[in-house]
Amino acid sequence: RTYDIAVIAGDGIGKEVMPEGIRVLEAATRRYGFTLKQKWHEFANCDYYARHGRMMPENWKEEIGRPAAIFFGAVGWPDIVPDHISLWGSLLQLRREYDQYVNLRPVRLMEGVPCPLAGRKPGDIDFWVVRENTEGEYSSVGGRMFEGTDREMVLQETIMTRKGVDRILKFAFELAQKRPRKLLTSATKSNGIAITMPYWDERVEAMAKAYPDVGWNKFHIDILTANFVLKPQIFDVVVGSNLFGDILSDLGPACTGTIGIAPSGNINPGGEHPSLFEPVHGSAPDIAGKNVANPIGQIWSAAMMLEYLGETEAAAGIMTAVETVLKQPALRTRDLGGSASTQACGKSIADALS
Ligand code: NAI
Ligand code: MG
Repeated sequence: RTYDIAVIAGDGIGKEVMPEGIRVLEAATRRYGFTLKQKWHEFANCDYYARHGRMMPENWKEEIGRPAAIFFGAVGWPDIVPDHISLWGSLLQLRREYDQYVNLRPVRLMEGVPCPLAGRKPGDIDFWVVRENTEGEYSSVGGRMFEGTDREMVLQETIMTRKGVDRILKFAFELAQKRPRKLLTSATKSNGIAITMPYWDERVEAMAKAYPDVGWNKFHIDILTANFVLKPQIFDVVVGSNLFGDILSDLGPACTGTIGIAPSGNINPGGEHPSLFEPVHGSAPDIAGKNVANPIGQIWSAAMMLEYLGETEAAAGIMTAVETVLKQPALRTRDLGGSASTQACGKSIADALS
């Protein structure tokens, strides 16, 4: 088994956590007997912008080619490039061009990570957030009128298409089907948002018929966010539109501790285009260059990528190694109260895997 992967480290701590992600991936290839062919790309970072006046070369698609997946660090260095330019010129372009319509994030409380919710133990919180990543509330349809007058108004439409809604729901139901509890929760607000959200609910109900073995329920987004905090144990797979999913996919990982360990996948499920795996955090200029960043977000993203590629055993092996290391205070990084460096933490995970 051989997989081509594109590697883009990006900026700031992206350049520090990426080598640790790769270190652990290489340990996994040796232990589980598969091969990764890495192609590193020196664009989609702000140094590239400083030299070329853009974040990526014009022919970036050709450069990237057809890898099995893209392994991404973090992008952004606001001293050189404003964030909206660096993000839109790189990551957001990749997500759009590759039609990565699923944003997937695990929410799992791990031992060794202080939980901001009182009284929760590892095992209590273990679910996935599935966010629609291409349409919904994030549309550019709308505009301003009568600017500067007392009739000034702004309008922005929400767009939901049958194709767009059904494909994200299908992904979420299929994910739920693979889980022991087989429970899907849909985020809605059909009491207040009276056109698009009832449509979303309708499509959930229709899609549920194709998955009779999956149970499902729905919550309005307001009580749903409250329940993330109050009763996180009731969730298994939670699916939401672009806006609701955005909120839930930040709130979920926040409920389980440090941003330094949270991973994410931007997925094009048909496999027509490559999917992209990256930590949730950004380039963290405040700690960049100090060798203190937590590499686990990058390493957990590596596990998600392997799972997606079908290397299920290797993915599980990485997660066991991460859990083993998190249990030992001396091996944790500063954000988790330890004093291990980025590299030391990455090495202990690679060793635990070997
Ligand atoms: P950030 O995630 O980079 O940092 C937020 C806070 O969390 C900082 O205090 C940072 O030190 C800490 N932190 C983040 N990752 C950590 C890790 N692995 N270990 C320990 N501590 C960690 O978000 P911020 O500060 O809002 O953005 C900084 C830059 O990153 C900006 O240019 C922004 O646009 C970019 N960004 C990029 C993202 C991406 O590439 N997907 C996502 C979020 C932000
Ligand atoms: Mg967000």
